[in-house]
Amino acid sequence: MNSNGEPIIEVVDLVRKFGDRAVLRDISFNVHRGETLVIMGGSGCGKSTLLRHMIGSMKPTSGSVKIFGEEVTTMNEREIERVRRRFGMLFQSGALLASLTVGENVALPLLQHTDKSADEIEQIVKQKLKMVGLTGFEDLKPAEISGGMKKRVGLARALALDPELLFSDEPTSGLDPIMTAVVDQLTLKLTHGSHMTAVVVSHDMTSAFRIGTRMIMLGHGSIVAQGTPDEIRSSPNPEVQQFIHGEADGPIPLNISQEEHEHHQHVKPRPFVGARHRFHHKTP
Ligand SMILES: Nc1ncnc2c1ncn2[C@@H]1O[C@H](COP(=O)(O)OP(=O)(O)OP(=O)(O)O)[C@@H](O)[C@H]1O
Ligand SMILES: [Mg+2]
Repeated sequence: MNSNGEPIIEVVDLVRKFGDRAVLRDISFNVHRGETLVIMGGSGCGKSTLLRHMIGSMKPTSGSVKIFGEEVTTMNEREIERVRRRFGMLFQSGALLASLTVGENVALPLLQHTDKSADEIEQIVKQKLKMVGLTGFEDLKPAEISGGMKKRVGLARALALDPELLFSDEPTSGLDPIMTAVVDQLTLKLTHGSHMTAVVVSHDMTSAFRIGTRMIMLGHGSIVAQGTPDEIRSSPNPEVQQFIHGEADGPIPLNISQEEHEHHQHVKPRPFVGARHRFHHKTP
């Protein structure tokens, strides 16, 4: 771990509740320049929520998040926009704008944050699409490309401004093993060559161990384990071992918690009411 200099990200005692349910509890960690921090943990354990707090798009119940030394939890939208110029974000869903072409989606941050000419932007868009193996797809709409391709367009857009910090939520989910390796190589090239810092959410263990220089495992809204890939691999914690080996049997509960179960019992289910309405209006 490179602990020289000030951390690029400092998360201190972060707590986030939805209603009275704590999804993140007392999360604290730092990320230093050049590191690739992999955040892993079971579905619904709070990984995307943690990322949203790190990029300032969600406000915590309590606690602090500093990026580049600046507190983001108290920033207004305009201040966050200024910080956003310095990092890229790949959302779990890809979050492409359906009405824009692939090329226009990648160009978006350049149009928003720079005064580059149309020609310059076109060149950069071509270069970023090439990096993710999508040369020639500029003019297609998101609806005309596959899920894995959308992911890669999202990555190209996240890299459009050559960010010094990249947040990536499941960048390789839905990609085949070869394309996963391509995206991992790209992350490695950018972190090693250009000293980019990366925070990557992943439950693809091959990918996580290929790119991670440090790892955090979340569970029950807290950090269950953190360390170098070697430390995580040899962790005596049975939850960590179950997770990294993908075993069905182990201490990680598969059912929703009793607390959550009780919470759901208070909500009267009205199955299919909305669905039926939508079904009737759906064109085949
Ligand atoms: N806006 C919200 N309002 C209420 N609950 C939310 C909200 N966003 C997230 N949650 C809850 O927080 C928990 C964590 O969700 P999150 O999306 O962070 O999980 P995750 O670890 O990213 O899961 P996955 O691996 O499936 O993507 C879930 O129980 C979810 O229902
Ligand atoms: Mg998620």
